[in-house]
Amino acid sequence: MLDGPDGCGKSSQARLLMDWLHRQGVATAGFRDPGATVIGEKIREILLSPAHETMTTPTEVLLYMAARVQLWAEHLKPSLEEGKCVVMDRWLSSTCAYQGYAGRFGMDKVIEIAQDALERVWPDLTIILDVDLQTAAQRLKRELDRMERKGDDYHRRVREGFLKLAQDRPGFAVVDARGSVEAVHREIVSLVQKDLAG
Ligand code: TMP
Repeated sequence: MLDGPDGCGKSSQARLLMDWLHRQGVATAGFRDPGATVIGEKIREILLSPAHETMTTPTEVLLYMAARVQLWAEHLKPSLEEGKCVVMDRWLSSTCAYQGYAGRFGMDKVIEIAQDALERVWPDLTIILDVDLQTAAQRLKRELDRMERKGDDYHRRVREGFLKLAQDRPGFAVVDARGSVEAVHREIVSLVQKDLAG
């Protein structure tokens, strides 16, 4: 699973990783969170619309979680049961870093809700693509969504939240995402190779 602050390049890296896995002959499926289901994409629109500026952090937690529960039921669980390697673009670690840490809802509370609502909470491997605010801002030269508009302090805390999570939990790796797309891809592949071999 790939995760990290906005502008870290994880969606492009997820695509490259999927291509690499296909070339290795590994049956693969890839999904973005929130999204990938009709319900999830509608929830995503509600979450990211700049018109919804009054949305509270607990509302965000529950909506992200709702989209994720639907994604698990419709796609993730069936894909894992078919023996596929699933590449996720974001997952629970995002709710921990954004709402739990940056939004001060509490990471432990987020994890508790996930444990109640989801059959499986953590992926085998979570790769955090770490990027500083300046590099991220240069990569986000387009109209920003509601989450991206939350300001520098919030996004500084998002990055801190990801790094803290990676330090505190097993199954996490951090990759410096300031490098070239190819260099970051090579590092991701080497982590995945180790995970598949283990
Ligand atoms: P994306 O554009 O990277 O797919 O992510 C959508 C936005 O939603 C991004 O700004 C990160 C944010 N987000 C959260 O705040 N909490 C979450 O649980 C997830 C999955 C995403």
